[in-house]
Amino acid sequence: MKKIFYLQEILDFGKTFLSNCIAKELLNKNKTVLYQTAPNMLDNIISYRFGDNNLKDFYNNLLDVDLLIIDDLGTESMNSLKYTELFNVLNPRLLNQNNKVTKTIISTNLSLKNILDTYDERIFSRIAGNYNICRFFGEDIRLKK
Ligand SMILES: Nc1ncnc2c1ncn2[C@@H]1O[C@H](COP(=O)(O)OP(=O)(O)OP(=O)(O)O)[C@@H](O)[C@H]1O
Ligand SMILES: [Mg+2]
Repeated sequence: MKKIFYLQEILDFGKTFLSNCIAKELLNKNKTVLYQTAPNMLDNIISYRFGDNNLKDFYNNLLDVDLLIIDDLGTESMNSLKYTELFNVLNPRLLNQNNKVTKTIISTNLSLKNILDTYDERIFSRIAGNYNICRFFGEDIRLKK
């Protein structure tokens, strides 16, 4: 069983909702969970890199929490600095440093092909090779409300 999930949608339905349900279950088991949208996470990391020391704990938590949820990957404005920083979060979390198992959920509206086109090869290969891909089908429940 792979330990990472990547939630990709075909039609709009339930990725954030399901991520939050998983977060709640883990928090109930006293696991640590951090939820971030990709744009927010990457902006915070860049601010930290440019000297905002208030974000040091935040950055350490990104690498250390039992579950990191990165929501809405692909909605951020990307540049090469952000590619590097995204990689610097995803890769150490895959390696389970210090014998600590860290799991990551990425949710996105991008297909794997879009991921390859949008990000660099190293990010694509880690997502394609290491993540369980859950495709979401169905009608958008928002339109039914
Ligand atoms: N299993 C569910 N039961 C009840 N309501 C749900 C369920 N899944 C999703 N919803 C509701 O459907 C709406 C859309 O879900 P959600 O926000 O999780 O979609 P999403 O895939 O994250 O969409 P987006 O790509 O726009 O971020 C929300 O109002 C959410 O509360
Ligand atoms: Mg969402």
